[in-house]
Amino acid sequence: MKPIQVGLLGIGTVGSGTFAVLQRNQQEIARRAGRGIEITMVADLDTERARAIVGDQVQVVNDARAVIANPEIDVVVELIGGYGIAKALVLEAIAAGKHVVTANKALLAVHGTEIFQAAHDQGVIVAFEAAVAGGIPIIKALREGLTANRIQWVAGIINGTTNFILSEMRDKGLDFDVVLKEAQRLGYAEADPTFDIEGVDAAHKATIISAIAFGIPVQFDKAHVEGITKLAAADIRYAEQLGYRIKLLGITKRADKGVELRVHPSLIPAKRLIANVEGAMNAVLVQGDAVGATLYYGKGAGSEPTASAVIADLVDIARLLDADPAHRVPPLAFQSHTLVAASDALPILPMAEVVTSYYLRIRVADEAGVLAQITSLIAGANISIDAVLQREADEIGGEGSTQTDLIILTHETREGDMDAALAQIQALPSVLAPITRIRKEELN
Ligand code: HSE
Repeated sequence: MKPIQVGLLGIGTVGSGTFAVLQRNQQEIARRAGRGIEITMVADLDTERARAIVGDQVQVVNDARAVIANPEIDVVVELIGGYGIAKALVLEAIAAGKHVVTANKALLAVHGTEIFQAAHDQGVIVAFEAAVAGGIPIIKALREGLTANRIQWVAGIINGTTNFILSEMRDKGLDFDVVLKEAQRLGYAEADPTFDIEGVDAAHKATIISAIAFGIPVQFDKAHVEGITKLAAADIRYAEQLGYRIKLLGITKRADKGVELRVHPSLIPAKRLIANVEGAMNAVLVQGDAVGATLYYGKGAGSEPTASAVIADLVDIARLLDADPAHRVPPLAFQSHTLVAASDALPILPMAEVVTSYYLRIRVADEAGVLAQITSLIAGANISIDAVLQREADEIGGEGSTQTDLIILTHETREGDMDAALAQIQALPSVLAPITRIRKEELN
């Protein structure tokens, strides 16, 4: 059978890994796919570098539209990233009847509805395993392996840069700024790491997961996004003393009145497997009603790990090329005619409606009655306290200090109730600094 002809848009880290792995494993991949898969055309602004990677047998151009216009190309692999030109090119490729493979989580989290609709109308496939958690086949697991389940929640460490930073902060007791510089020196964090450290990258991925898990449209604009820039080394230390680790989690959960979709630092019990995912690794924990908890672990970024996911998508396309579009696995797991507009779907809940538990660090004057005042305000909001830890004043401000940190763990409550209680506590004259609040997830 004629090999599938693939055109790459962009040949940076992931593109070069895709080329290398396809070359190295071509025979086994062809036996699995039922036909060869060949990269025959590459578009990159740096044609010299592209030529050095792919050699003379592959056509190299500097115009992505030349790849889309080539009638020999069956599949366009978009590895440019971002919502700008990448969106136009993906839509043009679909309009030209090409199947598309993309690693672009930002594009799908924001414009996925439009892109999947266009692909449906054209009868082509848009595949995106590489967009979420790099080499971990979490899209396939959610969409196919767990298809019997009513998914209850998914919680993942889905940004390697921030997990590396948090691991180093805990291991070495260093502050965020110091470790960020180290992450940049090692090449983990981008020169402009905003999307990583502010939680945006993780929220793009969580948004895609939420759509596949619950059959709702991608709605990045409704996600709660909070990064790790405000985390203090002291909170990581206190969490440790209480038996918890702090991780940046992407969480999406089915609740009575809607779906929770949130990214924020979270305390998780140190004894959970996912709490021990260190460095730049990713892990996704899925709770289904039939299967229970399943955990997926691996490299969430990097050249060949991400290429592994891109090529898995190419093999899927090769197997399905001649199949009736109606019999393909739907991109968001649910058949497209069952999907409704965001306004009619199970809503994404506002944070005030989210139910979770909390770690609070409150800097207080070390005086009689302060603890009682604070706990009575918490009790007055109907919030149950799980544990209290008070540091010796000397430990906080040196010998003779009159300030101390009060650490309080709560049981589950509505975030809106916690907001109200915190506003009252913050207003007490004995509370000396802005209160630190970190959400806590038991994940059981
Ligand atoms: N910047 C991402 C991370 C890479 O740190 O995980 C892949 O999305």
